[in-house]
Amino acid sequence: MNEPLEYWDSLFRDLDPETMDLSGSLPASVLPGFCDRYLKKGDRILDLGCGGGRNAAYLAGRGLQVYGVDIAQGAVEFCVKRLAQLQISGEFRQGTLDSIPFQDNEFAAVICIASLDHITLESARKSIAEIRRVLSDNGVVLLTFDPPDTDEEKIDEAEILPDGTLRFVSGAQKGMLFRRYSDREITDLAGEENIISFDHSANGARTVVCC
Ligand SMILES: C[S@@+](CC[C@H](N)C(=O)[O-])C[C@H]1O[C@@H](n2cnc3c(N)ncnc32)[C@H](O)[C@@H]1O
Repeated sequence: MNEPLEYWDSLFRDLDPETMDLSGSLPASVLPGFCDRYLKKGDRILDLGCGGGRNAAYLAGRGLQVYGVDIAQGAVEFCVKRLAQLQISGEFRQGTLDSIPFQDNEFAAVICIASLDHITLESARKSIAEIRRVLSDNGVVLLTFDPPDTDEEKIDEAEILPDGTLRFVSGAQKGMLFRRYSDREITDLAGEENIISFDHSANGARTVVCC
């Protein structure tokens, strides 16, 4: 059984945007500034690990051509319905962060918000290579990472994989992977020479813009 897939699928199964109040489902706080600075109307952008589509809906509403990928088929279907309901277009595919189901050089930008934390370090390295593969020349990437503090209270529900990734083996998050990156690890992952900005938010989350 693919446990992370089962876990993420279970979150989206049975959710329907038509019967949910999505008024509180706001885009990531760093997204408007990223769009203002790096993107123009009509640009093609990929939302990698798109989840319930809060960021995709925002991007499409700004006139960008939005594409999304998520491991959970339920998330893909949720996003399709959510954008259709708003009468804005977007295309969503089931796939993984480390094997992106799009061709080379397709996107002016790729965003990966709070998703690289949920795969192993080896997969994250593959994912960065995949992001660069689908990115066009002069394309730009937005990555966010959760705060680096550990889930001390939940540590007994997880085993620690050799690379430091937590793999939850019991409790509500059973099946989920969670890796807490240090700033140094994020810098190494993105490649110091590729980083355009590296910011910390008040709660300790990290935002990287890179090429
Ligand atoms: C914390 S949620 C973030 C969702 C969205 N980016 C947002 O900001 O609302 C993490 C998302 O990553 C997806 N995910 C987890 N592992 C994945 C993988 N290996 N490949 C693709 N998506 C994955 C999950 O299904 C989930 O939608």
